[in-house]
Amino acid sequence: MPFVQSRSLRVDIEALAYLDQTRLPQVEQWEACNTPEAWQAAVKRLAIRGAPLIGLSAAFVLAQYAARNPQGNWQGVSDNLRATRPTAVNLMYCLDAMEACFDQGVEALWARATALFEEDRALCQAMAERGADLLRDGDRVLTHCNTGALATAGVGTAIGAFSVANTRGTKLHVYVNETRPLLQGGRLTAWEMADLDIDYQLICDSMAASLMAAGKVDKIMVGADRICANGDFANKVGTYMLAVLAHYHQVPFYVVAPYTTVDTACATGAEIPIEQRDGSEVRGVTGAFGEASWAPKDAPVWNPAFDVTPATLVTGWVLDTGVFDQDAIARGEHCRER
Ligand code: MRU
Repeated sequence: MPFVQSRSLRVDIEALAYLDQTRLPQVEQWEACNTPEAWQAAVKRLAIRGAPLIGLSAAFVLAQYAARNPQGNWQGVSDNLRATRPTAVNLMYCLDAMEACFDQGVEALWARATALFEEDRALCQAMAERGADLLRDGDRVLTHCNTGALATAGVGTAIGAFSVANTRGTKLHVYVNETRPLLQGGRLTAWEMADLDIDYQLICDSMAASLMAAGKVDKIMVGADRICANGDFANKVGTYMLAVLAHYHQVPFYVVAPYTTVDTACATGAEIPIEQRDGSEVRGVTGAFGEASWAPKDAPVWNPAFDVTPATLVTGWVLDTGVFDQDAIARGEHCRER
């Protein structure tokens, strides 16, 4: 019997397995992940990805390490896991929670990791319901990256809202940005839209402006990797571009995330560490679909994985606790203790 099971993570006492997201949608392959090193390798290559899933899987791999190494350096392992990807704060949230249980032993660590997983499932449902409340029948909604069941323990964040709306009978048309360079939209969100039976069209990121100019986008909903005390937030690179376009074209722009993505210690977006990735991801593409490289093999590349959207461009922050507007954010209501 699995301890926990989601769309992309399976855990029991013996083994941890993940659905390799680099191989989707062509190949659905589960891989074992039974050491901190294996987890780090999978997270670095984005086989395990999405802010909540990174944190939850880290919690389980830490519990598993502790169970197998009662005298091991639990703190050292946690420090290494923490350093694997710097931007999504959910990883820090989960590891903080695990470290707080170190003195209670292995059983407490398993219980804590399981509780974090169940919490995320509930948070997804709560924010998805609130996000769905904002969606109207016939809405044409643009989204970026992948924010669905693949990236969380539950229905997802922005995609969770689409999913709940769909279940309620609210008909949507979702425009899916392909999300260069690693194509989380083209590979994963398109796959999830089809799986959920939601009407969608895939577009190249560079088409979003003319789509909005043509009046074909009613709302934009995206996820987040870290939301600051002032409401600035980091998400997949390309999100800021959408927010600027939304502002110009007067399209409501929403960010959907759980409270575990809010970092009250981060005052503004300038303080968010942005992960820089290898240039090969921009010089070409690789996946289960094959491999192609089009740029000169030594072409210099700038490849930040995330960008920061200033709070002034956001219409609403859809959290599990409520939908916050600019005034509520300025009062710090999204930072309240839970
Ligand atoms: O680099 P990734 O694929 O892990 O980036 C994921 C995103 O940017 C998502 O939008 C974010 O994690 C929120 S998803 C629940």
